Amino acid sequence: MAEQNTFSRYAALYDLIYGDRDSVGEVEWIQDNLTTHGLPSSATLLELGSGTGRHAHLLAGYGHTVTGVETSKEMLSLAHESDTVHFVRGDARTARLDQIFDCVLALFHVVSYQVTPADIDGIFETAAIHTGSGGLFGFDIWFSPAVHYLKPEGRELSKSNDQISVMRKANPVENLRESSVTVNYSFEITDANTGEQERFDESHLMRHFSAPEIELYATKHGFTVLYQGEFLTDAEPSRDTWGVWFTLRKD
Ligand SMILES: C[S@@+](CC[C@H](N)C(=O)[O-])C[C@H]1O[C@@H](n2cnc3c(N)ncnc32)[C@H](O)[C@@H]1O
Repeated sequence: MAEQNTFSRYAALYDLIYGDRDSVGEVEWIQDNLTTHGLPSSATLLELGSGTGRHAHLLAGYGHTVTGVETSKEMLSLAHESDTVHFVRGDARTARLDQIFDCVLALFHVVSYQVTPADIDGIFETAAIHTGSGGLFGFDIWFSPAVHYLKPEGRELSKSNDQISVMRKANPVENLRESSVTVNYSFEITDANTGEQERFDESHLMRHFSAPEIELYATKHGFTVLYQGEFLTDAEPSRDTWGVWFTLRKD
């Protein structure tokens, strides 16, 4: 299986970098989608790659109980627990919790962080083992037609708070043979008080998928694809749709 040393030093910057994402709107859309496809109220959810827990608490706000599984100890250390939200350190490819959930989730490209066939089989098998018949598996992926058409581009992003400012440069390299993109990030952090600077690099290997590939993995692991559409808009996936959401049901 591919090992990635990601989200270590990046973890402390994660909520600053993505702080202006509309997590409330994202979870509202996910809740609507899952309810349409049979999610019961007060459901049990297993969130794979739960990061700093930003979605887990919002999902709990809908009355659900959430267990997050996260491999990065640095991300996990920033995730706070509550009566209805718990986190465990584990790998989405191999975690075994001895519990059946109403729904398994992998949010914000977690499935695309699984790169080799063994990695992908691993996360689908984890979802399959933790759902009973009729249980759901919801996730978003990078969509191959859009990656090929729009092309991964170098980007710069700056964010700051009253303590630090962060400049993140992304330099992506396509690996056509592997259907993946290596996103080379370089970070420059400036202390707002002292002006001191620190730099580090992190590479993230991202798999993109076609719809038939997802259908193959779904079928192999005992799921049926109930829904595929652009995350947050429900538009039919096209060559302009980078992020596609899938909702699967366990047979
Ligand atoms: C882009 S972040 C998304 C975090 C969170 N789901 C969110 O929406 O903010 C990807 C997360 O998946 C975690 N991750 C990737 N592969 C994993 C694996 N095999 N097992 C557990 N966590 C994994 C990373 O450590 C990281 O926290």
